Amino acid sequence: MNFYLLRGRLFRGFWLFDCHLLLSLTQRRSPTFYLTGNKNVTNNTQSSSLSHVFTQMNVTLFDPSCKKSEGLPQSQRLGVDSVAQMDAAFLNKFPSQCTLSKSMKKMRFEIVAICGFVLGAWAIPLHADSDAIVSKPFGKTTAGEPITLYTLTNDKGMSVSLMDYGATVVNLLVSDRTGKLDDIALGFESAEPYFTKSPYFGATIGRYGNRIAKGTFQLNGEAYHIPTNNNGNSLHGGDIGFDKHMWKAETIGTTPPAIRFTRTSPDGEEGYPGSLDVAVTFTLTDKNQLRISYKATTDKPTVLNLTNHTYFNLAGAGNGTVLGQVMTIHAKAITPVDSLLIPTGKIQEVEGTPWDFRKGKAIGTDIQATGGNPIGYDHNFVLDKGATYAAQVYEPASGRLMTVTTDQPGLQFYSGNFLDGTLTGKGGKVYPQYSAFCLESQHFPDSPNHANFPSTVLKPGDVYKSTTTYSFENK
Ligand code: BGC
Repeated sequence: MNFYLLRGRLFRGFWLFDCHLLLSLTQRRSPTFYLTGNKNVTNNTQSSSLSHVFTQMNVTLFDPSCKKSEGLPQSQRLGVDSVAQMDAAFLNKFPSQCTLSKSMKKMRFEIVAICGFVLGAWAIPLHADSDAIVSKPFGKTTAGEPITLYTLTNDKGMSVSLMDYGATVVNLLVSDRTGKLDDIALGFESAEPYFTKSPYFGATIGRYGNRIAKGTFQLNGEAYHIPTNNNGNSLHGGDIGFDKHMWKAETIGTTPPAIRFTRTSPDGEEGYPGSLDVAVTFTLTDKNQLRISYKATTDKPTVLNLTNHTYFNLAGAGNGTVLGQVMTIHAKAITPVDSLLIPTGKIQEVEGTPWDFRKGKAIGTDIQATGGNPIGYDHNFVLDKGATYAAQVYEPASGRLMTVTTDQPGLQFYSGNFLDGTLTGKGGKVYPQYSAFCLESQHFPDSPNHANFPSTVLKPGDVYKSTTTYSFENK
């Protein structure tokens, strides 16, 4: 539990205890009755037994809330002849004759008011449901459509902000080992730079994550052509991928907070066949997990590879490079690429190569040996089946530890090679090369052109479902 929340809970606990004490001091207590009288021992002839009979009795009331001036204790002479009659109902006929003093009354009123307030506050959970998801306007698309930013906050204070443009992660606030929150996702302060400048910061990628060679593939004997927006190849869905569309947002829960983005990608959009209904649900659990679940159906056979493109820097976005952050990837192979980052079709073992992250090492350790232009990691890792997690990244200074689990067969590890310091993001921070990493859970790039890769074909009647979770803790 977060230190601040624990302190809050203890504070409330002490308040309640104090209220209880104070109230009990000013409480009008039940009058105490003292019995005095003449007791005769008589022979009860009817029952042939001895009984104690009070022939006369004095009842003395002592009421602790009485003022001295009210002249108590009071005495009353009662005409009772049996102890049995001194039951509660009988005694209730003798209520206290005196009143609470004025100052005591005022004090009681104040205590009741304060305690009522504190109790009211106690009744509201530390993290009110109404705060779990808040929304605010976040600009307009070039077509004038309003964009909304939704912030999901969990019980621990972790939060994720998402906009309906591109179903995009805009902010991700995660605490370090001292409890201090930092935004660890690269991005912009307003929606506008996302339209043209963003290298897919935080976006939902579709229909096809990563590259399709020459923007061409065959499906059921038919050739399809999609936009070649990256060196003669198609990247992340083409010119206007899922990241450049408005999605319909819907809150689907507050404990834990969850939001679902949906859209229909029409038949032929960016050259892909079939009308595709897509839903992406982001859930922020109380265990500090950002869970992303995808669901899609089509009315014609199509190819599909959905992912999220958040750029993480566990030291905080814009706080230097990620080269010192320690990466573990449970993958004993990668799909090697050519100079334009198109898979060769081979599955290559990582043993003895810069791509061996199985035992964990700083991202910068072997990065120069990866080659490429620009140099760096930009590869699909073939995830080991049955591993406890896909990848883990640790940032020693903050203590932040991120664990990625997924049901996807691949993970694109991209070390921000194309970032070059020309983008200025949130808080005026500049993003230099290697200032973030992406871990994009996915099917292998260019799968439609490689029969040996797991299939990415979605048929009518089938439901595409996939979940990836980014979990955060401190070490
Ligand atoms: C790709 C990179 C690309 C980056 C931003 C990654 O998924 O693998 O090659 O530069 O996205 O577009």
